[in-house]
Amino acid sequence: MKIKAFAPGKIILFGEHSVVHKKPAIAVAINRGVNVELESREDNIVHVVVPVIDYSAELELVDKKLNFKLDSQKKMITDYIYEVINLFEFEKGFNLTVDIKMYLGAGLGSSAAVSVSTLKAVSIYAGFDLDKKTIAHKAREIEIKIQGAASPIDTSMSTYGGIIFIDENFELSRINFDMQLPLIVSNCEISGNTGKLVESVRVKYEKYPKIVGNIFTAMEQISIDARKALEDGDSEKIGHLMNMNQGLLDAIGVNTIELSDMVYEARKYGSIGSKLTGSGGGGCIIAYCPENIDEIYTQLSKKYATFKCEQSDEGVQAEIID
Ligand code: PMV
Repeated sequence: MKIKAFAPGKIILFGEHSVVHKKPAIAVAINRGVNVELESREDNIVHVVVPVIDYSAELELVDKKLNFKLDSQKKMITDYIYEVINLFEFEKGFNLTVDIKMYLGAGLGSSAAVSVSTLKAVSIYAGFDLDKKTIAHKAREIEIKIQGAASPIDTSMSTYGGIIFIDENFELSRINFDMQLPLIVSNCEISGNTGKLVESVRVKYEKYPKIVGNIFTAMEQISIDARKALEDGDSEKIGHLMNMNQGLLDAIGVNTIELSDMVYEARKYGSIGSKLTGSGGGGCIIAYCPENIDEIYTQLSKKYATFKCEQSDEGVQAEIID
């Protein structure tokens, strides 16, 4: 038996950080993500391979469970895989290849895509057909266990796909938008630490409650207006709102010189809205390019790891090949 699964990564279009403080955000699932292939074995071995980090390990099933203890200090991408495997019991072993086809640690939700795609494949092998709600819930529990405080954005986007508005109660609703968003992603190839950045914003909020509170309120209005701009197809407004959101993210201290360089480079070549995406401190920017996308892509690619980003509407998917 062979099972193939895919889960997309995501970008945050509006509302990172403020979402942690119960303000709405908008995220887009992207056409880059994680492919998992699971092949059954006749013995009790679980062989896990993660090509992108040159990882290969064989572990044994004991009484149908994996003989594995998580080292909570290391916080490796493989922790997510083993936490998922640990949720189930298996009659027989399997080979699992987790092929990460996206930037790692760059704010694009790679760890969530790993958890969600692995959950889908491994749960089918264990005899369960989990619905999307359960997958998103379990993947988020794993994310909180390994990473600490986390909104449900990454795990929800990997599970459900599409363009999603996350409200102040973390309720999700799909935004009706039937075009592809012309977006480019560039990566400065320095990793930000999400946990530390979220904490630094919390400290700043505690120190300057009125100012940072007002910034969060402005971010809230940006996400609300952006939803309408997306539904109306108002490109100019989408661009303006992205640029304003970038300024506010800078104000709360999560921007960096490298991210700023990329943001302004994108605008120089014609992007009408560009901002960091995710936690900041490194990682990626997104550039909104309703016009001249090819030229802007060519220019950004000369300096940075860059890709044109298409949205993924499906979310997690699996195929069983006997
Ligand atoms: O960098 P990422 O993809 O982990 O995004 C973090 C987004 C934050 O709003 C900063 C945190 C969160 O959990 O929502």
